[in-house]
Amino acid sequence: MASKYVLVCQNVDCMQRGSGELFQKLKDKLAGSEDIEVKSYICFGGCQSGPNIVLYPQKVWYCGVKQSDVEDIAAHVEGGPEVERLTHGIDPTLKDLIYQVLDAGLF
Ligand code: FES
Repeated sequence: MASKYVLVCQNVDCMQRGSGELFQKLKDKLAGSEDIEVKSYICFGGCQSGPNIVLYPQKVWYCGVKQSDVEDIAAHVEGGPEVERLTHGIDPTLKDLIYQVLDAGLF
């Protein structure tokens, strides 16, 4: 069973900005890691700043993600450095709310 999750928003706004392709690329990239699962997420509420990807339990929120960011995000999930440039632009209150929902096991 996975112990780390890469949650990729697959709702309308993020999808229009390419999150479907991001989801597939991350899934392919991380396919060999048994403790990591790439999962779709219904919506994080940060729709205007998407595509949004949240790493859990690390509680790192990446917004405005581009296809060219996939390598760096995958590297972070596998133990590399956080991709600092993608961590800005989401209201901290929204982040806390979503992290509480995830802590409650709703994903
Ligand atoms: S559509 Fe992705 S956060 Fe809402």
